Amino acid sequence: MMTEIRQVYFCTVCKHVVEVVYEGAATLVCCDKPMVRLESGTVDASKEKHVPVMEASAKGIKVKVGSAPHPMEEKHYIKFVEVMTDSKVCRAELKPGMVPEAEFCMGIADVKEVREYCNVHGLWKA
Ligand SMILES: [Fe+2]
Repeated sequence: MMTEIRQVYFCTVCKHVVEVVYEGAATLVCCDKPMVRLESGTVDASKEKHVPVMEASAKGIKVKVGSAPHPMEEKHYIKFVEVMTDSKVCRAELKPGMVPEAEFCMGIADVKEVREYCNVHGLWKA
């Protein structure tokens, strides 16, 4: 039986980002090279601007990136915020100029993991 993992991989050549829903045996390849698995928080950058912060909101939960707002400029911004429960994965896609936060319709107690992807500093989770 395959294990649900939701790992994120990155192509160092074309910058392609891929999320794995179920792990298989093969190596992911892009641009004729093995893709690199992104580990959260491994890039040397401001934790305050990258580690997502979750709070209860009128809709359910609001996730902010981070405790100090992350830049949302053309060359440096948060591409997505993702929230996982035991049975759901919800992703909010963000663009430059937007506020680095997202709301999700789910109970705060159901959330198992929150993560975000910065186009310069990679994957961060809380
Ligand atoms: Fe960043």
